[in-house]
Amino acid sequence: MPLPGSSASGNGPRPRRLLPLQHKCGTQGPPALENSRQLAEIGSKRCKKVSHMPARPARNDAALDFLLSRRSRPAKTLVAPAPSREELLPILTAAARTPDHGKLEPWRFIVVEKPAMARLAALTQAAGARLGKSPEDIAKGRSQFDLGQLAVVVVEVQKDSPKIPALEQTYSAGAVCLGLLNAALASGWGANWLTGWASHDRGFCQAAFDLAENERIAGIVHIATESTAPPERPRPDLEAITTWVNA
Ligand SMILES: Cc1cc2nc3c(=O)[nH]c(=O)nc-3n(C[C@H](O)[C@H](O)[C@H](O)COP(=O)(O)O)c2cc1C
Repeated sequence: MPLPGSSASGNGPRPRRLLPLQHKCGTQGPPALENSRQLAEIGSKRCKKVSHMPARPARNDAALDFLLSRRSRPAKTLVAPAPSREELLPILTAAARTPDHGKLEPWRFIVVEKPAMARLAALTQAAGARLGKSPEDIAKGRSQFDLGQLAVVVVEVQKDSPKIPALEQTYSAGAVCLGLLNAALASGWGANWLTGWASHDRGFCQAAFDLAENERIAGIVHIATESTAPPERPRPDLEAITTWVNA
């Protein structure tokens, strides 16, 4: 039976196509494109049929405003309350959504709640004595735990990989710290990324957090309620740190 519009002889008009075209992008039909500007800006990689190309995501002004104005709140100015476990979960979820070459997940979290702070302060004191630190350095080192309400320790976990260099795992752990800091700030908490000399001492890391040989502290991110808004600090001269290459 010939298709409607076709000619049995093969010399007449070509048959009408009854099935929808198959597209590489797998879309069932054309997405709702907002305007012709978007059409013009759409890339051409996924599908040659322009009406089936995905639209560019909308500009997120709230996110940009946040990133252009974000700033830490000094840990010593943070007061109770700290986020509850429930409130912390989306912040940790956002932090774990971080670029990670090879999907190694070379990091994990240890959440230090208020009752654990005194133990960490005492361990810092003991580490300082062992290392021959000055009373001032010891006082400064333990102060983040003396004053702390809640802190998330971002632990870098080096994974064996024939492909992903150790340094890239370190970068990813640093990115987790920034993601955590920003997610906490964006949630309306005060937050500050600290380390301190004790966090680089294996003895302290082992006693305080039972870290393994392939683990180290990338950051101790304090999260609680801000008591005062800090002044802005000088920001980098973009011209001085940016090189444009166009040839
Ligand atoms: C890896 C790392 C470790 C840091 N450790 C400390 C610290 O131990 N003590 C401190 O006062 N500031 C420390 N800082 C700096 C604070 O996080 C500071 O609040 C931050 O640079 C402010 O940046 P912002 O205003 O852009 O948020 C550290 C920063 C980084 C990236």
